Amino acid sequence: MSLSLDIKFFLLFLLIIQVTPLNTRTFLDDVGCEIVQYPPEILGPVPHLKECLSTINSLVVYPGDPNYYESIKTFNCRYSYFPVVIIYVTNILDIQLSIYCANTLKIPVTARSGGHSFEEYGNGGRNGVMVIDVKEFNQVSIDKETNTAIIGAGNRLIHIYRKLNQAGFLFPAGTCLLVGIGGYATGGGYGFVARKYGMSSDNVISAEMVTANGSFLSSINSTHHSDLFFALRGAGNAGYGIITSFTFKIYPIPPIVTAINISYVSEQVDLLFMSIAKVAKNLSDKLTPDIRILSENDRLYIGSFYGVFLGSAEEAKSAVNELIELTEPAFTKFVELSWEEAVEKSPRFERQPFKSTSYVIAPPGLSREGLKFLRNFINNIECTTKALFYLMGGAINKFSVNSSAFMHRDSLYMLQMAMHLEGHNKEVQDKCFEKHLQFSQEFRAKYAIYFSYQNYIDRNLQNWETRYYGHHFPRLVETKRKYDPNNLFNWAQSIPIKFS
Ligand SMILES: Cc1cc2nc3c(=O)[nH]c(=O)nc-3n(C[C@H](O)[C@H](O)[C@H](O)COP(=O)(O)OP(=O)(O)OC[C@H]3O[C@@H](n4cnc5c(N)ncnc54)[C@H](O)[C@@H]3O)c2cc1C
Ligand SMILES: *[C@@H]1O[C@H](CO)[C@@H](O)[C@H](O)[C@H]1NC(C)=O
Ligand SMILES: *[C@@H]1O[C@H](CO)[C@@H](O)[C@H](O)[C@H]1NC(C)=O
Ligand SMILES: *[C@@H]1O[C@H](CO)[C@@H](O)[C@H](O)[C@H]1NC(C)=O
Ligand SMILES: *[C@@H]1O[C@H](CO)[C@@H](O)[C@H](O)[C@H]1NC(C)=O
Ligand SMILES: *[C@@H]1O[C@H](CO)[C@@H](O)[C@H](O)[C@H]1NC(C)=O
Repeated sequence: MSLSLDIKFFLLFLLIIQVTPLNTRTFLDDVGCEIVQYPPEILGPVPHLKECLSTINSLVVYPGDPNYYESIKTFNCRYSYFPVVIIYVTNILDIQLSIYCANTLKIPVTARSGGHSFEEYGNGGRNGVMVIDVKEFNQVSIDKETNTAIIGAGNRLIHIYRKLNQAGFLFPAGTCLLVGIGGYATGGGYGFVARKYGMSSDNVISAEMVTANGSFLSSINSTHHSDLFFALRGAGNAGYGIITSFTFKIYPIPPIVTAINISYVSEQVDLLFMSIAKVAKNLSDKLTPDIRILSENDRLYIGSFYGVFLGSAEEAKSAVNELIELTEPAFTKFVELSWEEAVEKSPRFERQPFKSTSYVIAPPGLSREGLKFLRNFINNIECTTKALFYLMGGAINKFSVNSSAFMHRDSLYMLQMAMHLEGHNKEVQDKCFEKHLQFSQEFRAKYAIYFSYQNYIDRNLQNWETRYYGHHFPRLVETKRKYDPNNLFNWAQSIPIKFS
């Protein structure tokens, strides 16, 4: 079966290289991802680019190079964009030289860390940009005296968790282990322990960055470049420069944690949501749960409440006792494990085509009517769609709305509507996409508050500037103008240099 499939693909491949003119190139992509053909205009070399970059030591990949295709793979493969060059920078000087060339040749620049942007902004979100990939900036150096760690901006979360774990520490970060810290901690960063220690960005105490004129700022903190420090924690992935490292607060690992899985059948979902509103106020900050709703298709459990509790099973049970009494769930499970096991058990996702939208919902939470509207959508759409609610509160609210560019405080939960497009032809995908946008507009207007979460970036979101950054937007524009006056780092949803 798989052999014959391989042969078919091989034949198709032969066919494609035969019928494809020599100056274009087509790639067969992974299962679920589109077949990629890159536009001929990208193949033509940018005049003087190679000469300009010839002095740098880092790996430089151009269109037409054998490893070009591999180096433009991003997590979301709904679209593909084609950079004119990808530079795997290994040192500050090479970043500065790259930026010098980009300025001289007027090529827009984008930073890339883990390649998990929802809109492929790691590749610029359009053709023709210079990608500065920081994955070689992967140090994790731990200071046990001060409970801080210097973390290279190119690390994937998994690598940081493992390094910290060996030293007995954790840091506030997400459950999707291959996400890059560079794009994650700069746009907020919700994760395992957010209600205990805050958003990931709340735990950044300083950063290092190369700016648009090539200067290297080695101390961006609350007293040095404090305007930039404010911007980087919430909008640091929106076009201020190439961050090379962060200093994070880190925390001792508890001796035992408990994975909680409380699941509900369809009829219980309404009650679950009405009860969440009641119990959230008094829920222990040792627990940062997400609450999910799936579509009805052949599944027993449609609603669920998951989280890793920072303590024993006994303690965990008492923390959710009120919820359990109110909702009488169909299934409950409490498993004690080590922090390391809890992290490593997180699901790994393959790259895939998807579209997500995000919403912020204030207390007392989604109304019955809103819930019905949402469930009706996910039960009737051809493309599998999940509603993922991330419970806020706890430490997230201890930071003032004005402490950083991340301003989504005092909400009950953030919601991600995650739509999987794989396994459908283009026509169905387009239809699902359109329906998702229609749903999004109506749901947002009727049942959510004004704001949206910038890490779940959505190119189709109208008024994203204030929905992501609220009243901080003017301040962010001012800071952008100061550090990047010519808008070198620019794409569809980067912070602009002036109000339009
Ligand atoms: C499967 C999956 C699970 C996720 N889970 C969570 C979650 O649990 N919680 C959460 O909060 N978010 C989550 N996200 C969202 C994630 O935080 C964002 O997509 C994030 O921007 C990805 O960062 P990246 O470095 O991997 O992506 P990239 O595509 O490399 O970069 C994303 C953006 O950040 C910018 N950027 C990257 N590195 C730098 C740098 N060094 N300096 C300046 N700018 C930089 C890029 O230019 C781009 O605009 C998830 C995303 C996916 C795909
Ligand atoms: C910020 O960095 C500068 C330069 O390294 C340092 O002198 C200062 O103490 C730092 N500020 C804080 C609040 O750590
Ligand atoms: C929670 O338990 C249910 C029922 O066994 C199961 O279907 C689901 O996959 C579990 N979820 C997680 C995240 O373990
Ligand atoms: C709050 O939660 C604690 C346990 O986490 C419980 O003992 C207490 O009764 C709860 N208070 C209210 C008002 O529900
Ligand atoms: C935050 O800043 C805004 C604008 O400067 C101001 O109007 C608001 O009162 C501040 N909020 C708090 C809680 O300090
Ligand atoms: C370059 O920009 C930085 C801020 O990003 C600024 O401090 C510095 O003065 C600028 N240098 C020159 C030569 O313009």
